[in-house]
Amino acid sequence: MSEQKYAISQYPDVDAIYQQLDALVSQPLRPLKREAMQAVLEYYDSKCARSKQLTDEAKQIIPGGVQHNLAFNYPFPIAIEKAQDAHLWDVDGNRYIDFLQAGGPTMLGSNYAPLREKVFELLRSCGPVTGLFHEFELKLARLIQSYMPSIEMFRMLGSGTEGVMAAIRAARTFTKKKYVIKVGGAYHGWSDGMIYGLHVPGTGRLEAKGIPHGGTSATQEFFPNSLSALRRHLILNRVRGGTAAVILEPVGPESGTRPVPYDFNRKVRELCDEFGALLIFDEVVTGFRLGMRGAQGYFGVKPDLTVFGKCITGGYPMAGGVGGRADVVSCFAAGIGGTGERAYIGGTLSANPLSCVAGYYALKEMERTNAPLIAGKAGDRLTAGLQNIITRLGLPFVAYNQGSIVHLETSGVMLLDLHNPIRTLKELKPRKHMIEEMGAAYMANGLITLAGSRMYTSLADTDAVIDEALNRFETVLSCIEGVK
Ligand SMILES: Cc1ncc(COP(=O)(O)O)c(C=O)c1O
Repeated sequence: MSEQKYAISQYPDVDAIYQQLDALVSQPLRPLKREAMQAVLEYYDSKCARSKQLTDEAKQIIPGGVQHNLAFNYPFPIAIEKAQDAHLWDVDGNRYIDFLQAGGPTMLGSNYAPLREKVFELLRSCGPVTGLFHEFELKLARLIQSYMPSIEMFRMLGSGTEGVMAAIRAARTFTKKKYVIKVGGAYHGWSDGMIYGLHVPGTGRLEAKGIPHGGTSATQEFFPNSLSALRRHLILNRVRGGTAAVILEPVGPESGTRPVPYDFNRKVRELCDEFGALLIFDEVVTGFRLGMRGAQGYFGVKPDLTVFGKCITGGYPMAGGVGGRADVVSCFAAGIGGTGERAYIGGTLSANPLSCVAGYYALKEMERTNAPLIAGKAGDRLTAGLQNIITRLGLPFVAYNQGSIVHLETSGVMLLDLHNPIRTLKELKPRKHMIEEMGAAYMANGLITLAGSRMYTSLADTDAVIDEALNRFETVLSCIEGVK
């Protein structure tokens, strides 16, 4: 596979991005003009009545009314009825360009017909689940290994969260060491040990409600990109139980919201080797989105363990897995062929035939259609267009991308951290509210984003789709305070 099979056409100038982001965060907020925001709220009142009725009713029985963290939208969630390729339609018949992509898995576009047919075939012959072995478990594992040579053995699981839990358990079993170090702010699913330093670097247990101290006491965070802080943890851990693993997203936490310098992953690999810790790549987002060889292929760094999710089943349930070194991963199997010392993992629906068939054909289709590259080109086009609008309108906003992962920072909320705790605590709420408003305004203009600041592009995003999206973004961004 040649270099140009990766979605990133040119690695972003990370220093320049941080300069722009720092400038954004040091300025007063530039929200939508109040009359524009009023028009957005009127859209919801007049055009989304059925969504409101349904989600209001749901609040009586479902905490918060909706169940997916990405569905908690301002001013209220919308209910989706139909999904096809680049578009979603809500229950009131409004059409949207879908840059949420269910949080990342539908890189082939929504409800991709060739994949759906393979799933139907399986359902007709076998149904979704038997609890016994199915040939496609083997086919999927082999396929993943063919793309990523670091995957000597693979275990399918139910979600990215489960994949992370399993990877950490394997790392501790294998190394017999205690600590797991993550990057501050990173999201690695919602297991007890990973609800630590969540979203805002330096916040430790702030979000760890309902989790006993013991649940996070062997987790540590280091400030994004600070190799010296990571080294400090590794040195200190030597005398207090050792470091089992360092876990990171290779493009930087939260899909690269805080991007990493190109050589960051290689330097972390070196540190792990120096201190005898395992390196876990969380490729839940980047796995197959950056290219069939994943971020590890792009950066040329071999992790000990890799966690998968999202694209691994092309949007079908249940998307998760962990793979890597045979001597580490084989701790999941007891008895004959296993290590004798078993790290316990399970799951009634793990590795069910439906997930494995969906995963196998999704990956085959991504490879056949060159989806990572095409989605990456759509991401480039979207980003270039956004940068052009931002410059023309004289806005302090920042747009950049890593292939099909596109960031549009307007409030800079994701860049706050506890280096300056007083300011952060003061600014967190208003900056967060601004991106809620931006997300609402994009939605009212036919664009669905992830939390008003991130977008995933897909195979279905033709030039025409992206150009239509850019027109819609321009309509919204023209209504920012201070734009003439
Ligand atoms: C980087 C990363 N790791 C892990 C997870 C958790 O995966 P899941 O939602 O499948 O449990 C996510 C989910 O968004 C993620 O983005």
